[in-house]
Amino acid sequence: MTDQDSARLLPHLHEVEGRLGLEGEAGRLEVDFVGGRTGHRLRHGGGRGQTLARAVGAGKGRSLPRILDATAGLGRDAAVLATIGCPVLAVERQAPIFALLADGLARALADEETAALLRGHLQILEADATQLLDAWAQDATATPLASFVPEVIYLDPMHPPRRKAAQVRKEMRVFRDLVGIDQDQQQLLAAALGCAVERVVVKRPMGADALLPGVAQRLSGKTTCYDLYLRPKKGEPASLRKG
Ligand SMILES: C[S@@+](CC[C@H](N)C(=O)[O-])C[C@H]1O[C@@H](n2cnc3c(N)ncnc32)[C@H](O)[C@@H]1O
Repeated sequence: MTDQDSARLLPHLHEVEGRLGLEGEAGRLEVDFVGGRTGHRLRHGGGRGQTLARAVGAGKGRSLPRILDATAGLGRDAAVLATIGCPVLAVERQAPIFALLADGLARALADEETAALLRGHLQILEADATQLLDAWAQDATATPLASFVPEVIYLDPMHPPRRKAAQVRKEMRVFRDLVGIDQDQQQLLAAALGCAVERVVVKRPMGADALLPGVAQRLSGKTTCYDLYLRPKKGEPASLRKG
């Protein structure tokens, strides 16, 4: 990811009726936590019973971990985790995507009902998460993570297409056309695994191989699955732990 990649996206950024959006050949992308598909998911998505919540260890009856979402994108997963009560720091490295996220979050906070749903739990940061995590692993006091101290790191990097274009949701197609594939996702995961956290969770397409070895458990939802890398408890091999 270079400044050139961000510069390439800038001409696609347009404001329409006070909402920032990225426009590609297949359509327009906006961040909307108030209405649309994401707004609906935040209100009726299954709360702590949903697979995402269980994957990060925030299922029913569990405590609510502080989560670093290292691949914020359009912030949908981060917002879901915030609405179930987890403090979330969502990191995005592409400036135009970060601009959409900041715009969507500002509109969400201006809407009383959505602001109450998010409970002040969602913070966003423009940065490269690999660099951030490497710096935190070296010196836990010297980075923006020092004041947040995540217990869980969540990754959902953009993967190469596996289905025919027509079968992929339009939003995903626009995103992939404009933003591209995250070619360095294994480095990001390696940086996350180098940090002293309880678990690292990687969202993967159904049936795909793990990004790196060491998965303790795979949780499957309807269309995606989550690979869990768990810090072993004393005297226990990581592969025995359950999410
Ligand atoms: C598939 S999208 C994430 C979608 C997100 N989970 C959601 O619910 O909207 C992947 C995003 O991660 C970002 N990303 C990938 N690697 C990153 C890194 N090392 N640091 C920060 N952001 C990264 C990409 O720019 C892209 O916007």
